[in-house]
Amino acid sequence: MLSYRHGYHAGNHADVVKHLVLLGLLQKMLAKDKPFTYIDSHSGAGLYNLDSQEARLNAEHLSGVVRLWQDRGSDPLLNLYLDKVSEFNSARALHHYPGSPALAFSCLRPDDRMHLLELHPAEVETLRFNMGRDSRVSIHHRDAFEGLLALTPPEPRRGLALIDPAFEDKDDYQRVLNVLVKLQRRWPVGVLALWYPMLARQRDRSIWLKAAIKRENLPDVLSVELVVQDQEEEFGMHGSGMLIINAPWQFREQIQATFTEVVSVLGDGAQYHCEVLTTSAHKA
Ligand SMILES: C[S@@+](CC[C@H](N)C(=O)[O-])C[C@H]1O[C@@H](n2cnc3c(N)ncnc32)[C@H](O)[C@@H]1O
Repeated sequence: MLSYRHGYHAGNHADVVKHLVLLGLLQKMLAKDKPFTYIDSHSGAGLYNLDSQEARLNAEHLSGVVRLWQDRGSDPLLNLYLDKVSEFNSARALHHYPGSPALAFSCLRPDDRMHLLELHPAEVETLRFNMGRDSRVSIHHRDAFEGLLALTPPEPRRGLALIDPAFEDKDDYQRVLNVLVKLQRRWPVGVLALWYPMLARQRDRSIWLKAAIKRENLPDVLSVELVVQDQEEEFGMHGSGMLIINAPWQFREQIQATFTEVVSVLGDGAQYHCEVLTTSAHKA
């Protein structure tokens, strides 16, 4: 069932959480003078037009990236994110929003590599059009869960994977857990970043996922959640989070400073929650 299209949601509060964490992790990769591989398991189209019919339907970007854009604050990671978004827009107004592949691509150095996976036939075509002209980028029309395991450990071995399922099926939670456990065994040095929704009617699912990941005792797991409370209960997603496995040193402190500012700019009762779920033996 591939009914989800990210064009309807680009730049919303969930993208804000996901893309801030992604850029923060990419900065950690760039801090060392060693090449890295970036893997995006659920890439989407790569780049979105905020003036399109889909984006305008619910205009979710207005309560996400646009609010931050209008009132930047001073946090360096937040400003980096907004500067990256600016690079895709020529005027002062926002017309385009970069998805995770475009944001990650903007950080690549000559020896870094990137694998983009996408299963939807139309989305992968657009992804090829948007992202397929650089020899550092490989685009794969294949299933994320099978492809992630097939492509790891990658070369260069140092790296980061963003896992961003649409969670259309409740079995996706179990599939995600299984793949994270296998992936971490195959690629112990990889930083794995999973996005998950916090759904008004199905709160137990994200709670289950976090508890299950904790039970598996994967190393250095950090969760960061952003809850926006200005939405109706029946609207569905009242927030979302990122689970980071092999979270880099001092990442928690950095992300807390960024999200303190994000919730103050978003206002309307927005809250963030950051929690260390596991610590590896050598860091304990
Ligand atoms: C949330 S969107 C991705 C957004 C993108 N990561 C970003 O941040 O810009 C999820 C994408 O996963 C794709 N998808 C769904 N199931 C998939 C699967 N099993 N394998 C690969 N892609 C899948 C969907 O077609 C959709 O484009």
